[in-house]
Amino acid sequence: MITLKNVILRRSAKVLLDGATVTLNPGEKVGLVGRNGAGKSTLFALLNGTLHEDGGDFSIPKQWRMAQVAQNMPETEESATDFVVGGDTRLTELREQLAAIEAAYAENPDDADIGMELAHAYTDLADAGEHDAVPRAQALILGLGFKTHELDAPVNSFSGGWRMRLQLARALMCPSDLLLLDEPTNHLDLDALVWLEAWLQKYPGTMIVISHDREFLDAVTDVTLHIANAQLTRYGGNYSKFEDMRALQMEQQQQAFAKQQEKIAHLQKFIDRFKAKASKAKQAQSRVKALERMERVAPLLAEADFSFEFKEPGNIPNPMLSISNASFGYVVEDAEPKTILRGVNRSVLAGQRIGILGANGQGKSTLVKTIAREMGALAGQVTEGKGLNIGYFAQQELDVLHPGSNPLEHMVRLARELGGNAREPSGEQALRGYLGSFNFSGDMVKQPVGTMSGGEKARLVLAMMVWQRPNLLLLDEPTNHLDLATREALAVALNEFEGTLMLVSHDRALLRSVCDEFWLVGRGVVGDFEGDLDDYQRYLLDESKRLREEAKVAVREAEAAAAPAAAATPAPQQRKQDAQDRQQRSDQAKPIKREIAQIDERLAKAATERAELEARLAQPLPAGEIAEAGKRLKALNDEIGRLEERWLALSDQLEALAA
Ligand SMILES: Nc1ncnc2c1ncn2[C@@H]1O[C@H](COP(=O)(O)OP(=O)(O)OP(=O)(O)O)[C@@H](O)[C@H]1O
Ligand SMILES: [Mg+2]
Repeated sequence: MITLKNVILRRSAKVLLDGATVTLNPGEKVGLVGRNGAGKSTLFALLNGTLHEDGGDFSIPKQWRMAQVAQNMPETEESATDFVVGGDTRLTELREQLAAIEAAYAENPDDADIGMELAHAYTDLADAGEHDAVPRAQALILGLGFKTHELDAPVNSFSGGWRMRLQLARALMCPSDLLLLDEPTNHLDLDALVWLEAWLQKYPGTMIVISHDREFLDAVTDVTLHIANAQLTRYGGNYSKFEDMRALQMEQQQQAFAKQQEKIAHLQKFIDRFKAKASKAKQAQSRVKALERMERVAPLLAEADFSFEFKEPGNIPNPMLSISNASFGYVVEDAEPKTILRGVNRSVLAGQRIGILGANGQGKSTLVKTIAREMGALAGQVTEGKGLNIGYFAQQELDVLHPGSNPLEHMVRLARELGGNAREPSGEQALRGYLGSFNFSGDMVKQPVGTMSGGEKARLVLAMMVWQRPNLLLLDEPTNHLDLATREALAVALNEFEGTLMLVSHDRALLRSVCDEFWLVGRGVVGDFEGDLDDYQRYLLDESKRLREEAKVAVREAEAAAAPAAAATPAPQQRKQDAQDRQQRSDQAKPIKREIAQIDERLAKAATERAELEARLAQPLPAGEIAEAGKRLKALNDEIGRLEERWLALSDQLEALAA
């Protein structure tokens, strides 16, 4: 049980918790929610012991093993698999212990105590799951979207987002009683996200997850902990339930209610506009649903009191952009370029709102980056309309921020860079006012970016983008780190935006509410996706089923090719042939059965010897003997493992023969 009683928690001058009281029970799946900068990550720092309460009582069971995702970017030549196996801290610890004891034993082979320790170290390691650590790690890595050939690739060879996925796999690898996840979905695509949901639903321990993704929270949590106004409030239920309960509370407050009505009226305008406008009935429908959803959470927005808008872009070229006969991909040093997408023929017209869909690694970001001029096309033409002004927002863009500078300095720098092209007032006072409209208060415009929360940084990047008055928005996972209110504000702003929009996002709610049409990036090409998001989720399922089927067919074909060709047999000879086949099968089965019998015998003997050894090790023995026995035990365990594997392979063969 985790308990906080009247806890006070500070960060510099900010009081993040002021007399917070809450209890979390073992096994609960808790969603920790609240505005950007409310103190969620700071609360994690309290839970994992990096920070101490400034007042009140905080307690957490001492014996609980805790797993969490490291926030740093891993830099290592280790293979992806080894890196993730290393996340099993118990295994790593035991391996290190064993190495130390082995070293001590090599120096002092006659020390009884060391010998005993050695024997224990071997058995402990086996108990900790040493034998299947690698397949367990690889299942996690593949589940998070890596390809089989990447399992042994060095961690350093992956891009930032993928390395963070490995950090996530490493945390999941760690056996734990308490799992702390701080925005685990930020680096995931929709399909990896769906896999993670399924994994977490089976996690047996206590889990606390910080997330701003309502659908994810609904899927994996049953308790919601809300942090606001330096207080913690516990709600029994997932995020939607929490929203409902909270909405009810808010409705009871007259003032908030009035504000909410305003917002609803505002949203209704959009529903009407889109009902009239959207040509494809199905998409219009899902869009209306999304807006209805926003209507329901309007009370939260009212509380948030934050909104922004994109300024009307000056001139909008039409087409904005056209791509003909193009190939996109990467230039590789000293090798052929790696083509990811080919035969791309597309144009983007003024006012289009395109959601870009596609599974992991299919080239969504390649497409977006090429349009954003971050990389060149390998072949063909990308023609830009005159006056095209791209506002590009990518997750990695948080790197464009300078940790030592504050928001105001960032804006001043941006204004200077744009020079005469800036269309907004760029004096310091104006910039302060502008930042204020993005919820950067007087103090915060001077806070170094390095100490800001993830969402605060993302909001700053967004502010910098809006300030440039783009007419084509190219957004690659823009909602990462943003809290729900800011997401809603972004959704509203995007709905009002008069320019053109291309959006990659795993945020289903956002895709639903702002996109009219979808492109699908997959199997090396870019095409239209006919349908809505629900169709897309079905498509993802079908696609993974198709890949599995393909793999199966390939295996079957390979087997058929390896087997002697069975000629069509004339009917009269059929019976004879059948009898011959049976005979042949039984001939083939004989040596297999014989080997199985031998293995059974050997396994029985090994098991007896193991039991004897274990019994002997429980007695006081001379040092040398203990160590010998320990070594023998390890050798036996290894042998048993090998025999069992062989046994399984043989029985598979037998089964195949019988079929
Ligand atoms: N070292 C620091 N000095 C000053 N302020 C800090 C420091 N560290 C954090 N803060 C402030 O404390 C507040 C809480 O930060 P925290 O990272 O816990 O927020 P969060 O709830 O996790 O937000 P997000 O949803 O954006 O991740 C933020 O306003 C942040 O700017
Ligand atoms: Mg945080």
